Amino acid sequence: MKITVIGSGYVGLVSGACLADLGNDVLCLDVDPKKIELLNGGGVPIYEPGLDEVIRRNVAAGRLRFTTDVAASVAHGLVQMIAVGTPSGEDGSADLQYVLAAARNIAEHMSEHKVIVDKSTVPVGTADKVKHVVREALDRRGLHGSSFAVVSNPEFLKEGAAIDDFNRPDRIVIGADDEQSVKIMREMYAPLQRNHDRLMVMDIKSAELTKYAANAMLATRISFMNELANLAERVGADIEHVRRGIGSDQRIGYHFLYAGCGYGGSCFPKDIRALQRSGEEFGLPLKVLEAVESVNEAQKSVLLQKITQRFGRDLRGKHFALWGLAFKPGTNDMREATSLVVLAGLWDGGATVTAFDPVAMPETREICGERPDLSFAETPNDALQGADALVIVTEWKVFKSPDFSLIKTRLKQPVIFDGRNLYEPASVAAHGLEYHGIGREGELLGAPARPA
Ligand SMILES: NC(=O)c1ccc[n+]([C@@H]2O[C@H](COP(=O)([O-])OP(=O)(O)OC[C@H]3O[C@@H](n4cnc5c(N)ncnc54)[C@H](O)[C@@H]3O)[C@@H](O)[C@H]2O)c1
Repeated sequence: MKITVIGSGYVGLVSGACLADLGNDVLCLDVDPKKIELLNGGGVPIYEPGLDEVIRRNVAAGRLRFTTDVAASVAHGLVQMIAVGTPSGEDGSADLQYVLAAARNIAEHMSEHKVIVDKSTVPVGTADKVKHVVREALDRRGLHGSSFAVVSNPEFLKEGAAIDDFNRPDRIVIGADDEQSVKIMREMYAPLQRNHDRLMVMDIKSAELTKYAANAMLATRISFMNELANLAERVGADIEHVRRGIGSDQRIGYHFLYAGCGYGGSCFPKDIRALQRSGEEFGLPLKVLEAVESVNEAQKSVLLQKITQRFGRDLRGKHFALWGLAFKPGTNDMREATSLVVLAGLWDGGATVTAFDPVAMPETREICGERPDLSFAETPNDALQGADALVIVTEWKVFKSPDFSLIKTRLKQPVIFDGRNLYEPASVAAHGLEYHGIGREGELLGAPARPA
């Protein structure tokens, strides 16, 4: 099948490359000429495990191409898949300008039937807006009778595991109001359906809402656990025991129950805000989500609170090792990353930082600029040298089994602030290190007694 993917970011590139890998003829469009130039030169603009190999294989086979030429991209695919960004607007609602611009482009160049697929995460009612924009542009061109369809096909892939998620989705949600489009979508996804039927066909509005509901549910679980972790600290319980205790209940399950230093990323924060704005627009403020967001905002500062409780507010002369910058492991995405809040807080206190992240250091340098209070290390252990404490923000695999004896010798003060609960407090303490986790009963193991 000939498919055009509009927007070559995390979702567009992964979808385009994976659809090409299934044998489709895919043309990826982007408005960013630098991105397309890089892709056409064999580079990959994002870090996503395995993606470079899938792109290389399919470019070599002639099934995957990249362009900035809108007319060519519209002429190419029967399916025009919109995968452009939907960032937060000023009031928190999803900014649809890129989606609607992409739709307008299609209408301004199309000369035959097109199936326009909204893959971007968009609020309920967006497909109607897309239809309106396309119809208006076709009318302007005098093409009053031209046919097109709009389908909602939200994407559920996770950065860091995106290729696998695309190829083995839990479900494929299709929101459509015509049989012909459902047939085309079924055909496009048929290779992913061999094992069992994963396609869920529903009305367009339900499909649009399903994506937000999924992210809102996951974010709710995280904030719920973070709030309980804070309570666990006060009452002397260990949130890890609580997590196992409730996760074993099959009605609850283990996923997304880890306490930590808050969620970030390109999806949860903006999607929660957008869903809240939708609620307000329809006269139904979503109170649960208001709490989810405010708990998360506070949680992003929880490491800073622990640091200032331990070292005082004035951090001048203090130096910290920071492990992990990306908003989660497996990606170089820094959008709304907790590390940025931690860095800002440490700098506000007058501290300096040496950071290590397996892939997100160039992005961090770009965001933060060259500054005297931030340096980068080549290895996690190099970052430790002479630091007053180690602060862990992202749960990269490489941080999971460190040499605690070496950490102790390299740090000036043997203190670990673990924002992702990577270690068992007692075993860290056994190495003579002071350990501060999130909601751990052993939080104060090895620490000097707090003043009453
Ligand atoms: N990143 C994720 O993990 C993820 C997962 C599921 C859903 N989503 C959703 O998918 C959408 C895309 O997210 P992303 O993270 O891939 O965004 P991104 O910012 O990485 O990529 C968007 C791309 O679209 C391009 N673009 C903008 N306007 C364009 C236009 N008119 N024509 C062609 N290209 C255009 C941009 O230059 C950019 O390269 C968002 O709605 C997001 O919420 C993202």
